[in-house]
Amino acid sequence: MHPSFRLQPIEVSKENPFANDNLNRKPIVEFVANILGKTGGEPLVLAIDSPYGTGKSIFVEMLQHELSKKNFQIIHFNAWKADHVSDPLIAMVAALDEAFPKAEASVAGIGMKEVKKFATAVIKRAAILGVKVGTGGFVDLPDGIEDAVVDAATDASTDLIEAFAKEERAARCFRTELEKLVASLPEMQKKRTLVFFVDELDRCRPDFAMSLLERIKHMFDVPNIAFVLSVDKRQLEAVTAAVYGERIDAEEYLRKFIDLEFGLPNPPKAEFIKGAIKRAGLNPVFDRRNINERDHIVRFVSVMSDAYGMSLRAVERSIVRLKLVLSFTSDDHGIYAIHTSLLIVLRSVDKPMFDKIVNRQIGPLEAMDYFRSLPGGRGKFDADDGNILEGLLIADLWDTESIHTYRLQQNTIMQRQDSTDASRNNAQHKIAILDSFTQDWDARGRMKRVAATIDIAANIRD
Ligand SMILES: Nc1ncnc2c1ncn2[C@@H]1O[C@H](COP(=O)(O)OP(=O)(O)OP(=O)(O)O)[C@@H](O)[C@H]1O
Ligand SMILES: [Mg+2]
Repeated sequence: MHPSFRLQPIEVSKENPFANDNLNRKPIVEFVANILGKTGGEPLVLAIDSPYGTGKSIFVEMLQHELSKKNFQIIHFNAWKADHVSDPLIAMVAALDEAFPKAEASVAGIGMKEVKKFATAVIKRAAILGVKVGTGGFVDLPDGIEDAVVDAATDASTDLIEAFAKEERAARCFRTELEKLVASLPEMQKKRTLVFFVDELDRCRPDFAMSLLERIKHMFDVPNIAFVLSVDKRQLEAVTAAVYGERIDAEEYLRKFIDLEFGLPNPPKAEFIKGAIKRAGLNPVFDRRNINERDHIVRFVSVMSDAYGMSLRAVERSIVRLKLVLSFTSDDHGIYAIHTSLLIVLRSVDKPMFDKIVNRQIGPLEAMDYFRSLPGGRGKFDADDGNILEGLLIADLWDTESIHTYRLQQNTIMQRQDSTDASRNNAQHKIAILDSFTQDWDARGRMKRVAATIDIAANIRD
């Protein structure tokens, strides 16, 4: 696909990690950085938990810069990129190796050499034993494998029990050396705690993910090392079940490995949507058109994303589709963009509702009731943002006569003595919105006209 049709992730720079932040992450990043600075030397495994595409990687990148600024030694480990390796320990030690200075003569240089030596011993022993690191004996080895391992062991004249004992010893030495290595951080003018980030754990090979957790628990459980795992816990639970079977209590099992969980907050998305529109290069398009269009779009994409619990990535996808559809239409298409963005969002999150609206099988007020009844919809569609949507649906779905009646009703609310100020303002806003949708152009039936294009755009795969 043409590169300008793909939204690149926001840039997180070292100098100013929050320059492009649209989700007010700074206080959250500082909060988590604080936790990591106050472990008191205790080993810690912290999970940053948030669903797919909701900003974990970017959050973690910001956190890494924040910690680096505070003089922490950090390691970034992308589990997914490493999962072709048989044993995660290999890749983890390689990441460790990169973080420490290579100078052979330095304390860290010598320490690293020892760490690598014992890591190699552990990995070799594990291979001889045919240990499936992550399976803890739960999983039946396929027929013949055990025999093959025994054969291999016998061939190598290695007693399995002996090999096991050696692995244990090597693991113990590994931990001791690792502890010493980390203890050299203050000599390097670094904070005492090494922060080891593991991203994309829920995306890699299930057995690799489980092995990695086991390796963290058994090999890296030493003072002054903190792990930060960014995961979608639901997904990681599914991975656990894939390895150990459905009968395992995945949540309970994962608790063995995770000391502290932190859920990423899901803040208001208006700024994020504005940012996505800008990143998509849509600003010049809107500048040529009616400036209010953009504000309306930002507002109701934001309510819809809350109501439907859309991820950041799902919102971005809608914006990219909007760009595509708009690029096929001329700039003088009236309120086309607002209709289009509503339908694009609906088409991706609620196809049945999309069909009903396009085929006029539902009235505007009925549709509004439905949106309000969504789990995340409560209170979201009542004020100004809801009025925009209501006005849009009315302008599109009703004939002139019904619209006239509706106007009269709102007028009555405005004039009645017993109306509260709030309901009076609301009625006034509803009329203003409806006017803006009906006065300058004929909005009726527009949605039906754009629906086919949107149906086609929905076939774009990401
Ligand atoms: N603070 C932020 N401000 C603006 N945009 C953001 C912010 N955080 C994330 N995004 C954008 O949202 C999208 C998804 O973010 P990210 O890749 O961090 O999510 P994720 O949870 O790591 O996804 P996955 O589950 O696929 O790994 C990216 O395009 C990113 O640029
Ligand atoms: Mg990610």
